[in-house]
Amino acid sequence: MTPTPEPTPRRTFWIDDRVVDERDAVLPVLDHGLLYGDGLFEGIRICERRVFRLGDHLKRLSVGAKAIGLHLPWGLDGISKAVLETARVHDRDDAYVRLLVTRGVGALGVDPSGCVEPRLVCIVADIQMYPAEKRARGLALVTSSLRRPAAGVLDPAVKSLNYMNSVLAKREARARGADEALLLNAQGQIAEASGANVFAVQGDEVVTPPATDGALPGITRRSVLELAAQLGYRPCERTLGRVDLWGADEVFLTGSGARIVPIATLDGERVGTQVRDRPGPVTQALLDAYPAHAREHGTPF
Ligand SMILES: Cc1ncc(COP(=O)(O)O)c(C=O)c1O
Repeated sequence: MTPTPEPTPRRTFWIDDRVVDERDAVLPVLDHGLLYGDGLFEGIRICERRVFRLGDHLKRLSVGAKAIGLHLPWGLDGISKAVLETARVHDRDDAYVRLLVTRGVGALGVDPSGCVEPRLVCIVADIQMYPAEKRARGLALVTSSLRRPAAGVLDPAVKSLNYMNSVLAKREARARGADEALLLNAQGQIAEASGANVFAVQGDEVVTPPATDGALPGITRRSVLELAAQLGYRPCERTLGRVDLWGADEVFLTGSGARIVPIATLDGERVGTQVRDRPGPVTQALLDAYPAHAREHGTPF
């Protein structure tokens, strides 16, 4: 019997005001998004033909736009239409959306005042995640030698195109044979992972550091805090140190693509008390509750 072929991985592109072919999905080299990482982005999950928490993603984008003084000429309605239309054309039940806004073309200097035409890009792609076996067993996390910048340096609450801090932390983690990097803030407390928020389960508490400790206010983080309350646990935002992760019952990461992923080790030492090769009970309860939650908070297209 011939096996059913895997569907060909696909990507669908929107630039400014319409869906375009991949060869036309290009931006000029003088765009300050390329020259200086001057712009914003969102990573959004599509599941069961619904865009997850689109309103919350657009709200975070608009707050970031105010923070960097970037006008969004399409309005949030226009950006929402771009996402939904690109998803419709992509035509897959599950997918990942990369939405970005760049400052646009300007002079070679850093001054953005000459950039008068920001650009909107939406890419909907087939989702790529850690293999199921790894998601069950848990990821290896290592503490990065880099620190998350303070809000007065480069505010981690603004999801800007300037991701060098995360890129280098992830690169270091991979070079050390780990899956993800844990970033501490200047005070040595936990901020977040290179591309995800960090949670620790301590008894019936589901704890994550406050965004002011250097974390992005993640959309999945928000959902997990809500779900934890609904499931009868105590959601809590509290400063965490590395020692709290080693002492926790369970540790997991959250992010739009993979949603909730257990952590097995931190710097080579096992974290949590869970049975090996299986998420802990609280992590599992959150994972089980997530599909219905995503349905409830999804915008159909
Ligand atoms: C640095 C960082 N922290 C946290 C997150 C998780 O946020 P969200 O749940 O909104 O995807 C991301 C996601 O891309 C991220 O890049």
